[in-house]
Amino acid sequence: PPNELEVKTSEHGGARTGSVKKQVARLFEGSLKAAFPEESVEPLIAVCTARFGDYQCNNAMGIFSKIKERSTEYKNPNSVGQAIAKHLPPSDIVESTSVAGPGFVNIVLSSKWVAQNIHNMLLNGINAWAPILSVERAVVDFSSPNIAKEMHVGHLRSTIIGDTLSRMLEFSEVKVFRRNHVGDWGTQFGMLIEHLFDNFPNLDDVEEHAIGDLQVFYKASKRRFDDDPLFMERAQQAVVRLQGGDARYLSAWKKICELSRKEFDIVYQRLGVHLEEKGESFYNPYIPNVLEELTSKGLIEESEGARVIFIEGQTIPLIVVKRDGGYNYASTDLTAIWYRLNIEKAEWMIYVTDVGQSQHFGMVFSAARRAGWLPDAKSNLYPKANHVGFGLVLGSDGKRFRTRSSEVVRLVELLDEAKSRSKAELVRRLEDNGKLKEWTDKELEKTAEAVGYGAIKYADLKNNRLTNYTFSFDQMLNDKGNTAVYLLYAHARICSIIRKSGKDIEEIKKSGELVLCHADERVLGLHLIQFADIVEEACTNLLPNVLCEYLYNLSELFTRFYTSCQVVGSTEESSRLLLCEATAVVMRKCFHLLGITPVYKI
Ligand code: ARG
Repeated sequence: PPNELEVKTSEHGGARTGSVKKQVARLFEGSLKAAFPEESVEPLIAVCTARFGDYQCNNAMGIFSKIKERSTEYKNPNSVGQAIAKHLPPSDIVESTSVAGPGFVNIVLSSKWVAQNIHNMLLNGINAWAPILSVERAVVDFSSPNIAKEMHVGHLRSTIIGDTLSRMLEFSEVKVFRRNHVGDWGTQFGMLIEHLFDNFPNLDDVEEHAIGDLQVFYKASKRRFDDDPLFMERAQQAVVRLQGGDARYLSAWKKICELSRKEFDIVYQRLGVHLEEKGESFYNPYIPNVLEELTSKGLIEESEGARVIFIEGQTIPLIVVKRDGGYNYASTDLTAIWYRLNIEKAEWMIYVTDVGQSQHFGMVFSAARRAGWLPDAKSNLYPKANHVGFGLVLGSDGKRFRTRSSEVVRLVELLDEAKSRSKAELVRRLEDNGKLKEWTDKELEKTAEAVGYGAIKYADLKNNRLTNYTFSFDQMLNDKGNTAVYLLYAHARICSIIRKSGKDIEEIKKSGELVLCHADERVLGLHLIQFADIVEEACTNLLPNVLCEYLYNLSELFTRFYTSCQVVGSTEESSRLLLCEATAVVMRKCFHLLGITPVYKI
């Protein structure tokens, strides 16, 4: 059974040596074993927040409290820290150590080692800095709009966040199933199909644009459903026929799904997001067996005519078969978990929706735990399921984001506006510095898209996903501050420094040496080598904003370095060009992981 899977700490893909934390931990593991052979403790390693060093080992206090009764040798945590420091095995990594206060062992990394680490990445590619995670297969369930209903900004957030999480996991060599769990099977299809029949007695007449705007079509049929009792009855009958497999109803359903899919695909294509659809309907054939398994395990009970699962701590049970005998959102989601575990062999299931659905997922996961499909929530065992919730997108009025023209924001219009605004701004800039004539139309278009769509994505991702954020074109397209525009331009500037040096960077990579002399070079270098640990943290905690913050700081540290250190024409030129190149490479990887297309010139 899957719940007996151990936590894997294996290190497949041995070439990836990115994690500095793990390398430092390995050193301390050695010294902890040597100094305290009786205590088997995991090294606790953190980045130093104070100036005393770069990394610190925080084991001393814990060890002291364990041994103080019986030890005569150790009088206080500090003496434990001293012993840990003394037993550190010799290594190229460490420049110096010191022990502070209650035994924190601080280490200063060797600048030479930091420089070599960066140079090594330049020679072997950024994949050398890919994190090593303890999962191999994950499902990321994201975007997941509903057929014929509007794809709204909530789905946009899910699409952007889910894509980034998928990209980070894929970079970490996890096999990711990018699942579009579209709502393609609900009672809404009854009214949609009957309305379709009334408008197109012959289904073959329904061509791509024949029913026009699906949202308008949806609203019209909804209005009839609400106002006309006869139509309502027909719609309810239609649901029964559809679920019973009536061929005519099935083909009408397929038609509607197809048209919807085409509209969704336009948005995905624009955003450069790839998804694999397995909608709610996909799981239908599996539901009866899954419910049978849950019944035989004694999970399902009868309650007020419905079949339900009671969840500890919840007063209202999870309904899995409605009173009319139909299945619902929960039956589908339970079955999807079963499918993902047993057929797709996923070890990690990640669901990206607004926080409004956290109770639903909480209950579904609890039910799966009761069934023995998932281990205890607090255990560190696989398989795991996580709901990645996010807050609302607000308008400038502080209310749910809407546009003037319609109650809902049309995503394509939103993307169009981001692009046209960033194009206008780009043209203005280029006119100002007299460079407009150097640009082809195609370059302008491509750059405007990269900047415009990148701005929308970054404005979303840079916030902790749980908070609501205000959608503002003015803010996200500002070229100052923490925006994609600022970052993309910063990257382009680094590329232009390298270009203008007239040096062959590939040649310098092979024959040159990277040396970190100036304090600002060292700080930048130290930040660079933390890349793998940051991506790992962002993956493990499912927080893309961690990567955004890293990227923004990287750009700030580069500026600081570039302000205090002359690059082109200096005696350190080749070393500094390597540092520029490494910064550009890491920035590009950040952009890639955030789903943003880099820009090389401005
Ligand atoms: N279609 C749902 C909505 O629009 C989101 C589906 C999320 N995924 C899932 N497995 N329930 O709210």
